[in-house]
Amino acid sequence: MTEVDLDVHRSAEDITAALRADVREGLSADQKWLPSKWFYDARGSELFDEITELPEYYPTRSERQILRREAAEIATVTGAHTLVELGSGSSEKTRVLLDALGEHGTLKTFVPLDVSESALSEASNAIAADYPALAVHGVVGDFTEHLGLLPGQQPRLVAFLGGTIGNFLPAERARFLRSVRDVLTDGEWLLLGTDLVKDPNTLVRAYDDAAGVTAEFNRNVLRVLNARLGADFDPAAFEHVSHWDAGAEWIEMRLRARTDMRVRIPGADLEVTFAAGEHVRTEISAKFRPEGVRAELAEAGFGLERWWTDSGGRFGVSLARARR
Ligand code: SAH
Ligand code: TRP
Repeated sequence: MTEVDLDVHRSAEDITAALRADVREGLSADQKWLPSKWFYDARGSELFDEITELPEYYPTRSERQILRREAAEIATVTGAHTLVELGSGSSEKTRVLLDALGEHGTLKTFVPLDVSESALSEASNAIAADYPALAVHGVVGDFTEHLGLLPGQQPRLVAFLGGTIGNFLPAERARFLRSVRDVLTDGEWLLLGTDLVKDPNTLVRAYDDAAGVTAEFNRNVLRVLNARLGADFDPAAFEHVSHWDAGAEWIEMRLRARTDMRVRIPGADLEVTFAAGEHVRTEISAKFRPEGVRAELAEAGFGLERWWTDSGGRFGVSLARARR
């Protein structure tokens, strides 16, 4: 059996302390919000995997199409010895890259990093079993905090797929891209997946499917607060909302209170009241334009070497290189 290294950078106590701080800040604000990383406990990661297979959720299929078409090119251009994947989840699409880099003969190490320990250990074990020649070194951590700790021989290719870059607010996004640049050596690589601006109806439906899986996923954050902080949220008392903000060009996910409510959150030493119709913002998913992606990469110190879209023009993948 192949050995899998797994580094865990956060103890259960660290996680609860971080959640407590986020909840105190977000739910005391005038316009309530919660950071989206708290969706992803074991159940949340499972629900996300279900989302990727929904008919309405095109990003996974579009990105996979691009990766299949361009993986050999990515391997040739980068000659990567290490593939790092941030927010790796199940790493399903990543196998396309592992296959191509393996065939090219340069790849030695795969470093998936995710906050979800369950998703990470499952994916790491499955990939180690299927790619016996590969050293798999999983990192349970937060990609806004733990990038300095990434192992692996250069040149490294950092993949950030699924449009997860869109889940940052613009200022956080700039900071994040800069922090990725800072841990890379000149000439190393970033492969970035970005969902593109398109007709609002397609976008709204991608985040509000007919089967209600996305609604369950959204409400899961309340279950996480109940489990970790002893809160008494009734998830069914919140309605899932997928809203297109045309000015900001992002989808905003909200949980809207159906009635007036008072919720106790003992683990955060907090009581929160909701008026009927009031909402909590649980996530944004920004949509991009090609010129914007290029400009943001340049601003962070990356040169765009390749830009690809799927046949429907729905999703974009950038191959960018750390400039000096
Ligand atoms: N890359 C996969 C999964 C995308 S979903 C795909 O393309 O399908 C976003 C993933 O990022 C989830 O697995 C989630 O657990 C992880 N994630 C979210 N916030 C994170 C953070 N701050 N640090 C590390 N991982 C995070
Ligand atoms: N990174 C994914 C995206 O922005 C995450 C996601 C998909 C998501 N569907 C969701 C987050 C629904 C919250 C709710 O597309």
